[in-house]
Amino acid sequence: MNNRKYNAVITAVGMYVPDKVLDNKYFESIIDTNDEWIVTRTGIKERRILENGATSDLAAAAIEDLLKTKDINREEIDAIIVATVTPDMFFPATACLVQDKIGAKNAWGFDLSAACSGFLFAFQVGSSLIECGTYKKVIVVGADKMSSIVDYTDRNNCILFGDGAAAVLLEPSEDKSVGLQDTILKTDGSGEAFLNMRGGGSLNPPSHETVDNKMHYLFQDGKSVYKVAVVGMADVSYEIMKRNNLTADDVAYLIPHQANLRIIDATAKRCGIPPEKVTINIDKYGNTTAATIPLCIVEYYRSGKIKKGDKLVFAAFGAGFTWGSAFYVWGVD
Ligand code: UT7
Repeated sequence: MNNRKYNAVITAVGMYVPDKVLDNKYFESIIDTNDEWIVTRTGIKERRILENGATSDLAAAAIEDLLKTKDINREEIDAIIVATVTPDMFFPATACLVQDKIGAKNAWGFDLSAACSGFLFAFQVGSSLIECGTYKKVIVVGADKMSSIVDYTDRNNCILFGDGAAAVLLEPSEDKSVGLQDTILKTDGSGEAFLNMRGGGSLNPPSHETVDNKMHYLFQDGKSVYKVAVVGMADVSYEIMKRNNLTADDVAYLIPHQANLRIIDATAKRCGIPPEKVTINIDKYGNTTAATIPLCIVEYYRSGKIKKGDKLVFAAFGAGFTWGSAFYVWGVD
């Protein structure tokens, strides 16, 4: 047990996915692929796409959904952290646009860029704001409009991603047996070449050439990322369980980033966690980058599967490379 005064506890959750569904049949009509390949290689059956609007709209809608379930004044929100790699624009930060959209007049905030590990990294930062005792209500939202950076002629990648957002409200608890207990977070920038979007930034400012070379689209060398992800996510999840003396029996759910069902299965296997204790929604939403973990949290909590006192292990792997794991004990009914 740590010697902080407070632990950060999730006291409310919310989510938003757009209505428009792209199923695997749709992709059969635009690229050389088939439903069987996509399902067996990834576990994805469909994904949601935002037709009008931006990442701030996804994030604001998720927070509005959260606020419907929690009787707080918007002016009480102290800070908003938006984990995203698809900000509305370079600046101002998406968090500023979200703050205005939800009318959180007293909140400050910022964006955090850690790709598919974004929610986990932002969750640690948001929890630290609570743990230090300075802030009482912090919203962490994972939101990505991946359809804005996906090349729908690239069959290797376009079938993987979807749009969505999910948010958690963090508040302080003096009961240290609940809330965020431990995290292991890692980066290795030598993996940059395998998963990136190189156009538009200071390295390659927008030009006709960057557009012609499709540098404003996500690039992924899937096979190389797979090899690192499958080991990285499994090892870090195993490590956090080991150092917190958790057996598979102790863990109510492993909540992994949803990039590929085979990576999820390998992680669960390494930790000895049976399939019924692994949260899955990749079949419905694909890879929503920063939103996958919180979307799982919201759906499994709302369906009554996650209960007070449940020990949860979060795990992520993404561009950077970034990866990590968290041990969290659910703290509310
Ligand atoms: O979320 C952030 C981190 N990202 C990840 O964790 C993703 C990691 N990577 C993966 O999940 C997998 O590598 C993919 C799902 C992206 C690809 O699966 P794979 O089993 O590694 O396939 P592959 O890239 O080795 O491709 C196998 C074959 C290739 O054909 P050849 O060269 O063997 O003839 C591809 O051209 O499958 C082909 N292929 C497709 N076939 C039908 C690639 N994309 C498709 C497609 N439909 N959409």
